[in-house]
Amino acid sequence: MAYRIPEETIEELRERTDIVELVSEYVSLKKRGKNYFGLCPFHPEKTPSFSVNPEKQIYHCFGCKAGGNAFSFLMETQKISFLEAVRILAERAGVSLPESRSEGKKDKTNDLLYQANEFAQKYFHHLLLKDKRAEKARTYLKGRFISEKIVQEFGLGYSPSDWDGLLKVAVQRSISGTLLEKSGLAIKRDDGGFYDRFRDRIMFPIQDRSGRTVAFGARALEDSQEPKYLNSPETPIYQKSFILYGLRQARDAIRKTERAIVVEGYTDLLRLVEAGIGNVVASSGTALTKGQAGLLCRYTHRVTLVYDADLAGSAAAFRGIDTLLEVGLGVDVVSLPKDYDPDSFVRERGVEAFQDLLGQAREALDYKLEAIAKTQDLTTVEGKREAIAQLVETALRIKDEIRRDLIVRQIVERLNTDEKAIHREMTRQKKRQRVVDMEHAAPTETNTEPQGPVVQRELLRIMLGRKTIAEEVMKELSPEDFSAGAFREIAQTIFEVCRAAGEPQAAVVIDRLQERSLASFVAKLSTEGLDENYIEESLTDCLHRVRIDGISEKLSQIRTEIATAQREGDETRLGKLNQQYNNLVKEKANLVVQKT
Ligand code: UTP
Ligand code: MN
Repeated sequence: MAYRIPEETIEELRERTDIVELVSEYVSLKKRGKNYFGLCPFHPEKTPSFSVNPEKQIYHCFGCKAGGNAFSFLMETQKISFLEAVRILAERAGVSLPESRSEGKKDKTNDLLYQANEFAQKYFHHLLLKDKRAEKARTYLKGRFISEKIVQEFGLGYSPSDWDGLLKVAVQRSISGTLLEKSGLAIKRDDGGFYDRFRDRIMFPIQDRSGRTVAFGARALEDSQEPKYLNSPETPIYQKSFILYGLRQARDAIRKTERAIVVEGYTDLLRLVEAGIGNVVASSGTALTKGQAGLLCRYTHRVTLVYDADLAGSAAAFRGIDTLLEVGLGVDVVSLPKDYDPDSFVRERGVEAFQDLLGQAREALDYKLEAIAKTQDLTTVEGKREAIAQLVETALRIKDEIRRDLIVRQIVERLNTDEKAIHREMTRQKKRQRVVDMEHAAPTETNTEPQGPVVQRELLRIMLGRKTIAEEVMKELSPEDFSAGAFREIAQTIFEVCRAAGEPQAAVVIDRLQERSLASFVAKLSTEGLDENYIEESLTDCLHRVRIDGISEKLSQIRTEIATAQREGDETRLGKLNQQYNNLVKEKANLVVQKT
């Protein structure tokens, strides 16, 4: 059952929690002016650039741009979910949480998505075990040595080749085609009907951490069939980058062995589990994401990547290593002999041989160095320089200073170079990174600020914490007038808070924003200095600018339309467009004059 904390409870927790007190439990803070400062827990630093603002109840780091409120502070530092953060704060504040009730609309639709996936899983599983149509599938699994026990434990199934096998039974249970489509299980036809997405495939249910089926991986019965694996699309309950196949089943074993083994494929994972190695998860063929690395962090400090030989040294392998190091995990790597994957290796050579390989796993840095050595001659200055550059890139991912120093010493030793050269390279790369940050040239990083028109940014900034200003803006603009997606979402959120008769404080807005990068951005906006005396003026200026920009945009639209009308010789239309155009030009001129 989805569980939602009532808004009032969150409100109460916010009131009862003092962010300075909370942060002080993790970071030593000193008061400077209105704010408190300390060493940032989100990036390594020597001088404090992490600030906590007691008035606004938010934190912001001027160095790495991390920012948020009490809830996000716990979520980020402890790597926990919002719900878990709520529980911790409730305990600290002595607030008792109500039992599951009062579900929001969103949770209700999610419930339906869970139900649809759950139903499909049961149906596919039942077919695999009992149905005549699944004879082929049963033979296939036998041929691949996947036992009944594994089929049960992982809830494997079979999707029939009929185009509406699932649809037909689902509809009988009041699960509509539309809902199946939303769940990624059906596809809409042009005529409005639906058909099953998965047909004649072995179904691997993908579960979230609480064991609910949220998606499927589906394998063709013949290797010649394309694609070999078909996967569910992302849905509100299935975000690929936050799910690891098999994690649910592997959790306890990972905790016990203090190690998580990461393989690529579904069948690789099942083979290892079958062979008694339980602490394994599958990345499903993509490079590990930060979200997935964050999941592993909760259960272990050490991750072993098992790669096919052909992947060794590839950019994907390197990215996986860096991502894991970045979240603070220790990483080592096993590379398999050529032409093997974990499944075929264990089947042909036995689990003991695989255990041996695990025993010989190499430290990530060693592995990387070895891979570099395959393409670079490390006896030349040039080769060495390239190797240093690549290893430093990895070392810089490590946030913990002590561990990073250790790595630096390792690099010195392995490359037989001096420590100064490494530190020079580190400074060079850090500087380059800073330039990149300043130019906003790295939009993929979550900490870079969303881009959009400066005036719109300014409007957001002055609306935060100022209901009357926000209401003035609402009279003039709708969220759609904010052209950048990120800005639109924040504007929308501020408006919503105001309509719900609340004050659009940064902390309140942050809570409502789903996306973390937006929340950090809001925190940052609210800490930027603002001269209170000029707020009204700024409002007038910005609204004015937005109006003018709006007209400019319309003008350019009409210009294209005029060009089309001219090409088509449509005289009546041309006349109308010219009229409109002239009116707008006048309007714009008036606005511009009015300003000066
Ligand atoms: P592989 O091609 O290595 O397949 O893809 P495999 O895991 O060895 O599968 P079997 O043994 O032939 O059954 C590795 C992973 O990449 C993803 C799947 O998650 C697969 O397990 N993949 C692969 C896809 O998503 N789509 C594809 O078409 C192929
Ligand atoms: Mn395989």
